[in-house]
Amino acid sequence: MADALRVAIAGLGTVGAGTVEVLQQHADLIARRGGRAIQVVAVSARTRAKDRGVSLDGFEWYDDPVAMAREASVDVVVELIGGEDGPAKAVCEAAIAGGKHVVTANKALLAVHGNELAEAAEGAGVSLNYEAAIAGGIPIVKALREGLAGNEITHVYGILNGTCNYILTEMREKRLSFETVLEDAQKLGYAEAEPSVDVDGFDAAHKLALLASLAFGTQVSFDDVYTEGIRHVSLQDIDYAEEFGYRIKLLGSARMTEHGLEQRVYPCMVAKNAPIAHVESAYNAVVARGDFVDDTMYQGRGAGAGPTASAVVADIIDIARGFATTTFGVPVGELRGAEASPIERHRGAYYVRLMVDDQPGVIADISAAFRDESVSIGSMLQRARSQTEAVPIVLNTHVCEEAAMRRTLNRIEALDSVVEAPTMIRIESLV
Ligand code: HSE
Repeated sequence: MADALRVAIAGLGTVGAGTVEVLQQHADLIARRGGRAIQVVAVSARTRAKDRGVSLDGFEWYDDPVAMAREASVDVVVELIGGEDGPAKAVCEAAIAGGKHVVTANKALLAVHGNELAEAAEGAGVSLNYEAAIAGGIPIVKALREGLAGNEITHVYGILNGTCNYILTEMREKRLSFETVLEDAQKLGYAEAEPSVDVDGFDAAHKLALLASLAFGTQVSFDDVYTEGIRHVSLQDIDYAEEFGYRIKLLGSARMTEHGLEQRVYPCMVAKNAPIAHVESAYNAVVARGDFVDDTMYQGRGAGAGPTASAVVADIIDIARGFATTTFGVPVGELRGAEASPIERHRGAYYVRLMVDDQPGVIADISAAFRDESVSIGSMLQRARSQTEAVPIVLNTHVCEEAAMRRTLNRIEALDSVVEAPTMIRIESLV
């Protein structure tokens, strides 16, 4: 057997410790698959004296992960620190500059600096592997870059954030508000104390930017991802969605259109009979549509020690095997820059919920706004409560352009009888 592949790990949190555990527990299996043993020889983390549930005996300890990436005599540096800048970026840059392969789970780093890191890795002749960065344990990078390489990808979309999917599922199943579920999830450790990156859609947007690059051979353009989170989704909307035959999911979706590259993350209604509607709780799923293969769907756990470490280890085994490929599916020089298709060009049907004073002429005023912007109403529902309380008017539109929908809602919001900002949720056709 060839010499062992020597690995340094920067960051020993849940995923770092999980990676050590997989490598230790499956050492023989992994050596057979990789054609050589994989040996962790150096590690770095913020605190040394901490029980991580795995033995660090025999590993060289570094307080400074960047020094480790620079100085440790290793073939691969695994970056599991996280964050789009700071030490995570410095670790990757130092490793690449030193001719060491990099494996990372860091979606934020790659979404923001992926182009330059890929260029540096290609220049240095090393791999920059990141299977764990998108949808945790789901091997979607391999699927897009290798398994579907003979297809033109026409659409890639998915549930890319387990925290949001968990919150939406709990809201529906337990009939709880967003705030209550989030609070409970934080107490149970399912959601971060600072939840914004998840619930405001940024984590999904990081992953979507990488998926889009892989799918369409374009430069990573995170700034062009239109991003909306789930804070404004109410239990009422979830109930109406059910009534109309939909589920609300936070989807990331990327498509190449005549107006340019569409990259969007938003909560939307998907038909209850769509396979992705049944991906519940903290699970992730990705659908990739290829012109020859048609729809392929991948589902699994998007976070956690085991699933994420599973992806990290697969990337390390590829390096042990000598399997190397381009970071985003084509050489960096061939990644295209793509015009971003603005959200105003989005075409689809919309769900709208208005809270109004129940008085004569309200529906006429609302209908007039739709008429004046040429947006066609598909169905409309009002359930009267009492004449002293605001009542919901809920409607679905036919397919229209988002710019027209927004103009309509601006007109409606200005009406005296409309007592709160309209809620608008896109209905995603997925065909
Ligand atoms: N926080 C993410 C999620 C997992 O909730 O899916 C890591 O990206």
